[in-house]
Parts: sequence; C-alpha cells; structure tokens
Amino acid sequence: MQTDCFIKTHQRIDYSLKDLIDFCLNDSWKDAYHHEEFEGVDLQIRKDKKFQYIKHFMVPPQLMDYTDGLALYKNPAGSAEVVRHKDTGRKASLMAPILPHDYPPMVFYKDDKEYCLDNSDPGAVYLNDHMVDHSGSATPVDRFYLIASFKDHSYQELKELCHM
Ligand SMILES: [Fe+2]
Repeated sequence: MQTDCFIKTHQRIDYSLKDLIDFCLNDSWKDAYHHEEFEGVDLQIRKDKKFQYIKHFMVPPQLMDYTDGLALYKNPAGSAEVVRHKDTGRKASLMAPILPHDYPPMVFYKDDKEYCLDNSDPGAVYLNDHMVDHSGSATPVDRFYLIASFKDHSYQELKELCHM
C-alpha cells in the first residue's frame, strides 16, 4: 500500500525477527527509559548494543548517516492509546512492527482519511511521516516495535534520497 504518510520500504528484517521477539519477551525491560509524554501511556524504550546490528538490515544505505541507532519500544498491555498527535522530537522514522500481529500499530490521519499501518507482514520496514497526525493503538497484550528516528530530515526528503 502506498499513501502520502507512510510507505513500505524494500528493507526487511526477517532474519532478525526471532532474536528481536526473544529480546522483547524474554529479556529484561527493567533498565528501559520511560517516555511519559502522553497521559496514561507507558512507552518503554531500550537502545541495547546487542540489537544495533539490525540497523544494517533496517536502514537503507543512503539514510544510514542521518539516524543515530535503533530503539526498541514496548507499549505494555493496559496502557492507554497514544492519542492523535504530531511528533516534536523527530520528523520521520523507519519502523518495523514486531508484536502483536493482529492489531494495527499505527493510524495516520490525512485529508479527512485514516490510513492504517498494519502488521500483516512481519519483517517489513515502513518509512513514516511523523509531521502528519497519527495515533498508536492500545492493545490487550504488550505491543513492540523497532524504530530508527530521523530528527532533521523530512519524510519527503528521505523518500527522495531512497528514490522511493
Ligand atoms: Fe508519534
């Protein structure tokens, strides 16, 4: 699917998914940073060295110099939904949804339409426009995803750099 607010890239992290699911489910989150920007939402963030190698699968070579590494996010069961917003700390991101598979991790709102980014193709990597309104789903189970953020480059600039 192709819209104005996110696009599926040619990058894949299939070979790292098993490791990532293990980090998500069986590894400790006790040292995770808690992002508390949204009311009732506990977003936990880890930047462990052990999964940074996935950057080489996740980030297109043309964009490698513009991001500072990967962050693994956990949005625990029982957390409120991340309400509709634009990001202040980044303009765009590459995102790989990990778990669960049966909930849309993100919804974008543009021109009075909603665009659901689903997780029906685990291993896929999406380029997202964080200057467009978006929300994050609350799920009955823990939700996990991997992100590479771009603070200084817009979605359109990144798309052009990758000839997408
Ligand atoms: Fe956001």
